[in-house]
Amino acid sequence: MGGGNHLMTNEDAFNSTIHRVSRPDRHHVLLESERGGYLARVGGECTLQNHVDDAAIWDVADGGFRHVTSGALVAAGSVALNAPTTVDGDGTSGTPCVPRHGPAELPSSYLATMREQGWVALPSVLSPETVEALERVGCTGPWSDQQQTSRHSLNQDPAVARATIEPVSLWVTRQYMGTDDIRFGHPPTVSAMTPDDGERSVQGWHSDFPYLWGIPDTVGGNRVPTGSGELVLGVQRNICVSDFRAENGATVFKLGSHALQQCPPEEWGLFSATYKAGHRAKHGLPYGGPETDVIEAPGGSILLYDARTWHRAGVNRTNERRGAILQVLIPSYIIPFVDNSEHLLAFLETDAAAELNARELGEISRLMTQQIVGPQGTFAIGINEAATRRMRDAVTASG
Ligand SMILES: [Fe+2]
Repeated sequence: MGGGNHLMTNEDAFNSTIHRVSRPDRHHVLLESERGGYLARVGGECTLQNHVDDAAIWDVADGGFRHVTSGALVAAGSVALNAPTTVDGDGTSGTPCVPRHGPAELPSSYLATMREQGWVALPSVLSPETVEALERVGCTGPWSDQQQTSRHSLNQDPAVARATIEPVSLWVTRQYMGTDDIRFGHPPTVSAMTPDDGERSVQGWHSDFPYLWGIPDTVGGNRVPTGSGELVLGVQRNICVSDFRAENGATVFKLGSHALQQCPPEEWGLFSATYKAGHRAKHGLPYGGPETDVIEAPGGSILLYDARTWHRAGVNRTNERRGAILQVLIPSYIIPFVDNSEHLLAFLETDAAAELNARELGEISRLMTQQIVGPQGTFAIGINEAATRRMRDAVTASG
């Protein structure tokens, strides 16, 4: 490890081990019905389902589409359901499907990698059209001369919602956390990392929500005190809008560190130290030597990692802004970082929401609503203004 209390030298700052994820030369397709169900073959029959596992993966074939795991063919023009839907499908007989950009590999293969190493890259899993729309919202790439006018990315373009509910990465995340009932920790925002000025503070080493190891506890003990073993309390999802490269500030990781179940070493430069004014001028950048990792991936890729994984922000040493959507996914039994319900309600009033199909609306609503189902009935839980004021007053009074 970093060793001792020595200050980081420049070689230590920009000398991570690079893991390059290349742009695939081919992708599978998803066949999506008008209401958003995915055509799948289950038990030898076609059905519609709301999730994408291996059963929903197709390839373009002569005259139609070939089901990847079974080899079964459906003819184009008759890519329609002739069998009644079973399980969780929403379709009716004869519903036409539209081929959509799919993953390069089978979902089960990404899941196996995630389980094996605690992180996985889904290269270019978003379509080029979606990436282009995200660049426009984030004012990166061809739109770098524009300035973002709103922090509510979700409301600006349906592509933001579509990217954030990308079905393969959600399926992998649900499987990895062992529950279908997952939530966003905060609303999705397209962020743009601007070129470094040599002075600003650079976010130091930490683990993500809800663990937050290495981050100062300013909220009164709201932390996961120990490692949670096989119980996974969070998966971080980095959607690369721009290409992620070491030079433009791709996240710096210690890959595999989720298994250590502990806070990153203090001498690497913890978040709790690096955010303080004057820290960088005095101590330099947090550790970024050969024991650390950078995942370079093309725009449109999604990186998933176990929230315990030690990481820190990169430093953008180019003249270009680097766009990303950084997301927290948690099981429903963890309290989210932000009450998403207000953001969801505002989104549902927008033109962007009006463009989503039934499955997409259902998925984003589920991910952004904290609910409780009990003997009294079913309720959405949100922030109560009066109770919040009372709590703040009590904190102030106690000094
Ligand atoms: Fe983080």
